This record gives sequence, structure tokens and C-alpha cells, in this order.
Amino acid sequence: MAHKAFPICASALSRSKARKIERFAKFDSTLEAYIASVFLVAQLGKNYAIDGGKRISGAALLQLAFDELKLAEREIGGEIVCVECSEGNKVLEAFYEKNGFFKAGRRVSESDGHAYTQYLSFLK
Ligand SMILES: CC(C)(COP(=O)(O)OP(=O)(O)OC[C@H]1O[C@@H](n2cnc3c(N)ncnc32)[C@H](O)[C@@H]1OP(=O)(O)O)[C@@H](O)C(=O)NCCC(=O)NCCS
Repeated sequence: MAHKAFPICASALSRSKARKIERFAKFDSTLEAYIASVFLVAQLGKNYAIDGGKRISGAALLQLAFDELKLAEREIGGEIVCVECSEGNKVLEAFYEKNGFFKAGRRVSESDGHAYTQYLSFLK
């Protein structure tokens, strides 16, 4: 997990989400985006070597990550969580949307040109 400054396009936000984000972000009128400090969760993945019946669910795994972030939040602040998944991966997009994330942008990797969809959620 990393903590980094992240631009969130105002056009990706509903009024209520924008109001929530305004509490911990600065608005950059040139970029038309909020610059917020977000927790980036990378490499979220289950251990498929564990037998199916004993394997954790994706939702429970995400909850463990959020529990860790809540501890970090007490130390360093910040309430926004970001995950990225391959653009067009319907399974992962559905997984994140079902678990409370909303689509907030896209990133194209400078190294290999791969496109990622960026999802955000709030710790609380
Ligand atoms: C994402 C994840 C945590 C969700 O867990 P979950 O909600 O319990 O879902 P499941 O593991 O039961 O997977 C559901 C289906 O998605 C499929 N799936 C898993 N990862 C996938 C991926 N990266 N792309 C496409 N399909 C995927 C599974 O094969 C499964 O298919 P099935 O229903 O036909 O058997 C888990 O699937 C996982 O660890 N995936 C591998 C790592 C990964 O892709 N992480 C996301 C990084 S952005």
C-alpha cells in the first residue's frame, strides 16, 4: 500500500462525493480536478494455493485491507482509497463496484501503454 497525491476529475464525482472529497482535497481549477492524498491498494489478490473451502472471499480480503488502512489513517490521516484494475476487465470492475468503489479515472502506463481503470472508495 502507498500513500500518494492523486488527481480526481471533478466530472467523475456526484455532488455528494465531491462534498466529501472537498474535506481532504484541494481543487486545481486548471486541471478541473481535486488533488487528494489517497491510499493506493496494489496487488490485492487471494492465495489460490489454499483449498477452495478455506479460501478467503474477495470482500473479506478487502475488509482486511481497509482495517489496516484505518490504523494508518489514525497515524497519518487520509480517508480515500484507490485501486486500479485493467481497463475493460468486467469481472474486476463488477467486484470493486459491488464492494463500494466508484469509477474515478483512468491511467495509461508510461512503460507499457497498458490502461487501468481507477476506482475510489472512502474508509468511512
Ligand atoms: C479480485 C478477487 C480478490 C475477488 O475475489 P472474490 O470476489 O472472492 O471472487 P473469486 O475469487 O471467487 O472470483 C470470481 C470469478 O472471477 C474470476 N477472476 C478472478 N480474478 C480475475 C481477473 N483478474 N480477471 C478476470 N476474472 C477473474 C475467477 O476466476 C472467478 O471466476 P468463476 O466464477 O468463473 O470461477 C480475487 O478474484 C483475486 O484474488 N483475483 C486474482 C488477483 C486479481 O486479479 N486482483 C485484482 C487486482 S486489481
